[in-house]
Amino acid sequence: MKVSMTVNGKAVSGEAEGRTLLSSFLRDGLGLTGTHVGCDTSQCGACVVHVDGKAVKSCTVFAADAAGANVTTIEGMANPDGTLGTLQQAFQDHHGLQCGFCTPGMVMSAAALLADNPKPTAAEVRHHLEGNICRCTGYHNIVKAVLAASGQDADRIAAE
Ligand code: FES
Ligand code: FES
Repeated sequence: MKVSMTVNGKAVSGEAEGRTLLSSFLRDGLGLTGTHVGCDTSQCGACVVHVDGKAVKSCTVFAADAAGANVTTIEGMANPDGTLGTLQQAFQDHHGLQCGFCTPGMVMSAAALLADNPKPTAAEVRHHLEGNICRCTGYHNIVKAVLAASGQDADRIAAE
């Protein structure tokens, strides 16, 4: 079937079977490979995107169920001139990534948190990101990056 949606502000459409996951549709159908797939079993969070403003694990959504939705992927988080967006830059500045596999999902989950809670505590950041697994960083610098992106003193708050 033909599935149409808006992705990163652009109207797109592609072929999908009823069983095609949104993660596959984005990666294989649209070539948006910034959305990573680490497990396909709803555990790792590498596949998080926003669907109509809500963070969702795109491996748990059928592409057909996202028809007509407004989807944002990590590719949509950069500034219009192609430079890193605020959260992306904060991850780089605070060493919130090493291999980078978890990073797209972390950034998308963190963006959803900051949209709801613009000045979270470190504990709130940790709680919100519990569905995102990172095997490299130990999480501390990810928390610092999110706090910094929220305009807070990341070093002070992350140490509390
Ligand atoms: S690939 Fe979706 S949660 Fe791991
Ligand atoms: S940076 Fe490697 S899994 Fe998080």
